[in-house]
Amino acid sequence: MNKNLFALKGNIVYSQDKNNLVTAASSYLVCEDGKVAGIFKTIPKQYEGICVEDYGIKLIIPGLTDLHVHAPQFTYRSLGMDMELLPWLNTYAFPEEAKYAQVEYAKKAYGRFARALSASATTRAAIFATLHVPATFILMDLLDQTGVQAYIGKVNMDRNSSDNLIETAEQSALDTENWLKECVGRYKNVKPILTPRFIPSCTDELMERIGELQRKYNVPLQSHLSENASEIAWVQQLHPDTKCYGEAYQKYGVFGGNCPTIMAHCVHPNKTELELMDKNGVYIAHCPQSNMNLCSGVAPVRTYLDRNMRIGLGSDVAGGADLSIFKAMADTIRASKLRWTLKDKALAPITVPEAFYMATKGGGSFWGKVGSFEEGYEFDAVVLDDSNLEGSEEFSLQQRLERMIYLSDDRNVIHKYIKGIKTR
Ligand code: GUN
Ligand code: FE
Repeated sequence: MNKNLFALKGNIVYSQDKNNLVTAASSYLVCEDGKVAGIFKTIPKQYEGICVEDYGIKLIIPGLTDLHVHAPQFTYRSLGMDMELLPWLNTYAFPEEAKYAQVEYAKKAYGRFARALSASATTRAAIFATLHVPATFILMDLLDQTGVQAYIGKVNMDRNSSDNLIETAEQSALDTENWLKECVGRYKNVKPILTPRFIPSCTDELMERIGELQRKYNVPLQSHLSENASEIAWVQQLHPDTKCYGEAYQKYGVFGGNCPTIMAHCVHPNKTELELMDKNGVYIAHCPQSNMNLCSGVAPVRTYLDRNMRIGLGSDVAGGADLSIFKAMADTIRASKLRWTLKDKALAPITVPEAFYMATKGGGSFWGKVGSFEEGYEFDAVVLDDSNLEGSEEFSLQQRLERMIYLSDDRNVIHKYIKGIKTR
């Protein structure tokens, strides 16, 4: 008897593509070997007798993906939200991250982060740790136990930081290589990802070494790109030979192409950068709340979607104060409307199906067939109880999902399945 064969029954909503939400009222979502076997109105003959969890009128949606989040910043989220990016990094991010040199602090703080992520609707995440290897292992150990499928990165930074949060290029590269080796075979759910913080934090020598590690170990990479005007001007000074910020990564072979790459923000791409990101299949982690909090701007998401570029949503805690990807969806829509009203009438605001697509299938695809309930997709499902909102019988399934996007919190997330395993 196959143990990982079961069905969930409920009101199912998922994204087929960016324009099409699929709803299946009172249907069975069958899981076989950790994958979606199909959605059925009645249980088909070959599945007769399998275990069914009946969730009644509750909503069942694919797990959400947080394509960009800083675990060590969870502790101070919501502080300094009246600052811009670079002063905020120096005032809040760097002093806090320096504390993760102490493993006792890391255990306590990362424990809080792991519990919060576990309680949320997020089933996949791409996470920045700090430059400290022992603390990064603590985060990886804790998250591995939650079942959340996460890429976690030891951060690299060898310039423009504080004295208590800096490495040499040599030490950074050595530590990273040893960390990658030690990760092999150690985890079920989490994987390492190379994480040069951003160009201003990494010397040419360090970027060179990271590019070499990427090719030697074939691991993906995450970083930040074109988030803020002062940052972009700074990168231009550091790499005067480039026509865009992205080229400063491209120089070292770590801007998509053969290197699966997530770039957070991408708020202000110039034409060269846009074309390079598109050509290289770079994943964009759109983080609207952070971009508003830190006064960075609003990314041209409509342009990215129209070009069918790879894009998902990120909380960017603590640039974003909120870990919820439902909030990221609502903020995506809100921010796009502000952009449309104030900046560019040619770029239409983002719709609910588009925001939901980015939060599920768009970001999920970084892991492969993830973020949808089409046959063969990995079985990541979240059961939502929206009964606290009352009156759900008056709304369509899409409208009930919309209310969850704007009004839910973790109390609405009552069960969670990741790769077919119930984690909550
Ligand atoms: N750029 C470099 N580091 C960071 C960070 O920690 N947060 C954000 N939002 N942007 C960054
Ligand atoms: Fe970030």
